Amino acid sequence: MRCIHTYIKRALAPCIVFISLQSAYAQTALDKKIDGIIKKMTLKEKIAMLHGNSLFSSEGVKRLGIPELTYDDGPLGVREDVGRFTWGPLRLKTDSATFFPNGSAVAATWNPVMAYRFGVAMGQEALARKKNIMLAPAFNICRTPLCGRTYEYYSEDPFLNAQLAISSVKGIQSQNVAACVKHFAVNNQETWRDSINAVVSERALREIYLPAFKASIEQGHAYTIMSAYNLINGAHCSENEFLLNKILKGEWGFKGLVMSDWGGTHSTVAAAQNGLDLEMGSSGPFEKWYFADPLYDAVKAGKVSEKLIDEKVHRILWVIYHTSLVAHRLPGSINTPAHSKAVYDIASESIVLLKNQKHLLPLNTSTVKSIAVIGDNAIHTFATGGFGAGVKAKYEVTALQGLKNRLGKNIDIRFAQGYKADYKFNYSAARKQEANKPNPELIAPAAELAKTSDAAILIIGSNREYESEAHDRADLSLPFGEQELVNAVTAANPNTIIVVIAGAPYDLNEIKKNNHTIIWSWFNGSEGGNALADVITGKVNPSGKLPFTFPAKLDDSPAHALNTFPGKNLTADYKEGILVGYRWFDTKKIEPLYCFGYGLSYTSFKYSAIKTDKKSYKNNENITTSLRVSNNGKYSGKETVQLYVSKLNPKAEKAEKELKAFKKVAVNRGSSAQVALNFKAADLAYFDESVKKWVVEPGQYKISVGASSRDIRASAIITVD
Ligand code: BGC
Repeated sequence: MRCIHTYIKRALAPCIVFISLQSAYAQTALDKKIDGIIKKMTLKEKIAMLHGNSLFSSEGVKRLGIPELTYDDGPLGVREDVGRFTWGPLRLKTDSATFFPNGSAVAATWNPVMAYRFGVAMGQEALARKKNIMLAPAFNICRTPLCGRTYEYYSEDPFLNAQLAISSVKGIQSQNVAACVKHFAVNNQETWRDSINAVVSERALREIYLPAFKASIEQGHAYTIMSAYNLINGAHCSENEFLLNKILKGEWGFKGLVMSDWGGTHSTVAAAQNGLDLEMGSSGPFEKWYFADPLYDAVKAGKVSEKLIDEKVHRILWVIYHTSLVAHRLPGSINTPAHSKAVYDIASESIVLLKNQKHLLPLNTSTVKSIAVIGDNAIHTFATGGFGAGVKAKYEVTALQGLKNRLGKNIDIRFAQGYKADYKFNYSAARKQEANKPNPELIAPAAELAKTSDAAILIIGSNREYESEAHDRADLSLPFGEQELVNAVTAANPNTIIVVIAGAPYDLNEIKKNNHTIIWSWFNGSEGGNALADVITGKVNPSGKLPFTFPAKLDDSPAHALNTFPGKNLTADYKEGILVGYRWFDTKKIEPLYCFGYGLSYTSFKYSAIKTDKKSYKNNENITTSLRVSNNGKYSGKETVQLYVSKLNPKAEKAEKELKAFKKVAVNRGSSAQVALNFKAADLAYFDESVKKWVVEPGQYKISVGASSRDIRASAIITVD
């Protein structure tokens, strides 16, 4: 047995020490040096640093030896180079990169080591491509399953979100490349994203929407942050005094720079006063931007002080000295076997086994002579598409190729397309509707192939056009007439294995009811097909768990139940408050299709001897819960043990339960592992708006340990003073 948590600690410990010593050591000397540089700069030179000078760069000060800063998207890998002033790709031979699993895939690993490896490899590729700032990771809360960016983001839970955010930021920055955590904050829908006003209580902000940002700043030490397009409580995020000045720079002590999302700045004086440091955008002429000539004029007119300009320049220089001007910067590396291995390992741990009722998996490859692989997603690639994030992948193993790689020597792998995803995110509504119709001409031969093959693997789902930045999905239904294909293929071969490749929840009601075997996969990077094939054959025992709830129907999920999505009159009223994701489903006793934290294994894990180290705690103490996890099945595997806390008889409103700790452990078959889950009594606090403070309500709390949010294996009651 190897305890993954110990591995995490070992892997992260040196970099934690390194980062904190380095910044603590460098602070005063570096700050003084930066002040010295600022003294030598003219106002024009300062202002020139405060806005983009091309689509993905901003000015340095050549005469003082300060290079420009270079940026790139994120979060699926280092994006291909575009022109300085146009979005058109440069079609270089040198800008291909590794395609990393999408955000919800990383989250489904429930493994901060994987998030760290994702960050390190991406940081190395950014270095090799001479980028100083990676516009990643992205981790807004999944408030509605329809959000077009759910696939880029991690989870509906603030604690899982925060743990992965910290590790991915540390990974990227271990390479002296700045992470840019985005989109700060409350970017939970793409509909009217530039103008939607999210009306959110301070409590929900602090308990649900901000914790991962806070953790990425205070514990991950992110150097940069990107403001979101939307407004929060009446002010655009790029000029939101409460968000940027009070919380980020004040309470969290953020030392780095705040950049706007591209084209997301809306004023000169208000944005400058309220915390924005750098305007990034989409097109020239750059001197006309809010933070260009108009800002210079505002300083000259006395509307913005030069001291404030100096503070912004200080932040930008501070980032430059932590990235391009850092001593002994590494050269980086790109498209290496080590990066492919990182992608393969993340993808392998992300795949979620949803159903294995007849134990068709792992596939018995000694008796199967032919496999029908069906579905457009078996041959589809996911590195690019849609409106935003994407990489020019050096290579991408499709599902069909992965199955051929692993099984092609001994098994006849046959393919039928079954449906065709002729769909672009910017097609007209009529054309989209057309694309979602079943195609009988493709369905018939697919069903026939399933009937005449020993096994059938049907690979459906969505793609990076269907799920994309800049728009939300209309509903949860499976696209491209897939349900009809599933029905036909299942009728032809009842033992069909269904694989869904997508980045966000879909309606799987019929599939859950009618099919025995369901695997959930993701836009799983360059090695996605190999990882999927290895899960199917059992070389990899699946260990992914869902990072968000799959509702049985859309109206069960909070934003839809309360009719607050996408909002009215450009206002989305977050009436559900803190009851987001499973917090809502559990509190309101609504049965989801698949719950948060759900995922099966080929083996079975038994939990025993669950106990807390004490019965009663003061609110400055640590709470340790220990248990034994035994692997009673036939396969070695990994299990994510989840710890949830509920307040008994709460005075303030509380969710039915909240995730407070989790740990992924590897346990060989026939053996067992001792697991300890720690959290602080202070973590039980809720944000009391009446006193504007975090308050731990004294009394009894129930600690529940389980394999998912609804598979609780044991509970204990503790008291907190
Ligand atoms: C996206 C950002 C991205 C930026 C630059 C914006 O549309 O919201 O996430 O980093 O474009 O490509």
